[in-house]
Amino acid sequence: MGMDAVNVLHMNSGDGESSYANNSLVQETVLREAQPVLRQTIKDIAKSDDMFGQCFKIADLGCSSGPNTLLTASNIIDMVHEASKENNRKTPQFQVCLNDLYGNDFNSVFESLPTFLAKLKEEKGESFGPCFVSAVPGSFYDRLFPDDSLHLVHSSYSLHWLSQVPKGLEKNTSHIYVARTSPTEVFEAYQKQYATDFTMFLQARAKELVPGGRMVLTLMGRKLSDLAIDDCGVGWEVLAQTLLDMAKQGLVKESDVDSFNMPYYNPCEDEIRDVIEKEGSFSLDVVSTFRGNWDALDKDYTSTKASSELSIRHGKNTAKMVRACLEPLLAIHFGSSVIDKLFENYGKRVAEHLAVEKTRHYNIAISLTKK
Ligand SMILES: C[S@@+](CC[C@H](N)C(=O)[O-])C[C@H]1O[C@@H](n2cnc3c(N)ncnc32)[C@H](O)[C@@H]1O
Repeated sequence: MGMDAVNVLHMNSGDGESSYANNSLVQETVLREAQPVLRQTIKDIAKSDDMFGQCFKIADLGCSSGPNTLLTASNIIDMVHEASKENNRKTPQFQVCLNDLYGNDFNSVFESLPTFLAKLKEEKGESFGPCFVSAVPGSFYDRLFPDDSLHLVHSSYSLHWLSQVPKGLEKNTSHIYVARTSPTEVFEAYQKQYATDFTMFLQARAKELVPGGRMVLTLMGRKLSDLAIDDCGVGWEVLAQTLLDMAKQGLVKESDVDSFNMPYYNPCEDEIRDVIEKEGSFSLDVVSTFRGNWDALDKDYTSTKASSELSIRHGKNTAKMVRACLEPLLAIHFGSSVIDKLFENYGKRVAEHLAVEKTRHYNIAISLTKK
């Protein structure tokens, strides 16, 4: 099955209980953790001749909707403002292009713009900027902008999504991602799809960025190159087990579980380096990695397991986060009527897992320069 992620993938819309807007704390934490990389990159840009120019042109790829979307823009604007002051320069005008797939809830982003722009004026004064915001729907695996039209490309927690489910996963039955027991061809199919997609991404951005232009990309990766022993797929294995339980109860079809695979991949640092080197348009300047708890409200980064009481809470919160991101994708495949039950059960299974082993996300933030 070569399902096109581009046409079905989107985070839950609006601002209701299951929306991405209400369940994006994990991603907010990631944005915060990756800030030093972004800040350093912007300081570097400010030092180089006149890269900000009259208008600093930024794109945020996979912007989604909710508080994080304009938080990213506002962080970048603050950092450019700060760096301009340090270099005794006038703060430039800003063009902020927000990109996501066609199904993204751009309307709610638009609705939050007046407040965002008013706040900017209030905090920075009438003569600041101005900041021009636009939306650019489409896949970042294709071209999105004209040649030489961007100074900075930013993307957070989006590049682990593939353009499609890899082909050749027929033997990956009872799993939805590369599991420890998946045949090697499954791993290879995912690896190949990632290399193809990330190469396309780099080729497109190489055309769109001005020479010397920068990119800051953060994604969910994996620490060990051997996917069979890394823990990046553990959460998906728990989801697969939840689906199999439901198949046993007749709530979903087992054949539907067998045929479902995630259009998603966690590259390790070497794979990222490899693609960047082979593609050739960018130099890799900074790599920074950090762990993140599955439940963003969980601030404990030392325990190797959670108490049974806490694990229940972490399980519930993790299920809400995953639901906000995966509901549209899962509803198309399994039917929307099973979603409530699926995530209720998933939360319980996650709790059981965290009480035994506290698996954490492994995040990779990189900064690149266009040669
Ligand atoms: C988890 S959200 C992250 C959103 C936001 N950057 C944040 O930090 O909260 C991932 C976003 O990437 C988008 N995305 C995935 N694949 C994409 C593609 N090929 N092109 C554009 N956006 C994509 C999804 O639609 C989703 O909104």
